Amino acid sequence: MATILEQLNQDHGNVSRLLDAMELQLRTLQSGAAFDPALLTRIMRYLTQYQDVYHHPREDLMFACVVLRAPVAANDIETIEAEHRTLATHGRDLHAAASASKPDEPSATLPQLLESYIAGLRDHMRLESSTVFPLARVILADTDWDELDSQFEVARDPLFGPQVEQAYRGILEVLGQQSRK
Ligand SMILES: [Fe+2]
Ligand SMILES: [Fe+2]
Repeated sequence: MATILEQLNQDHGNVSRLLDAMELQLRTLQSGAAFDPALLTRIMRYLTQYQDVYHHPREDLMFACVVLRAPVAANDIETIEAEHRTLATHGRDLHAAASASKPDEPSATLPQLLESYIAGLRDHMRLESSTVFPLARVILADTDWDELDSQFEVARDPLFGPQVEQAYRGILEVLGQQSRK
């Protein structure tokens, strides 16, 4: 499989685990218990500074190639690209709301922003994984993949890559506890 598609699928798996952790925090704060705004802030830092900066532009690159080969996919791709812009804006808002919150005092906008971001990103990844990713696998030629892979900037993933940045280590611990439950 092409490197770019492998990386995109891997990103989706990683982001799903982060969304599960975020949902747990949402349920905790909705129950009125103390939650972990520092964890949410770290996760949102990763999503806005790594996924929004590398994952979505790589997809945009691949989608541009898919639409050339299969114009029938234009509507889905237009929707997905608009969602990239919306998710980036909502992600920045959520990052700000999380960092302005305290464990026993969520900022007023946090619960609603969190709920809609989790649902929006899950729906977005589901749409990509069920429509354009499988289409790309079928429709793109080896030369297309070679061309895409040559344009694909190898970016070091600061959370799920071989070297975890200090600021993100706490996230992996939480994900580890989550997977043991
Ligand atoms: Fe996307
Ligand atoms: Fe994606």
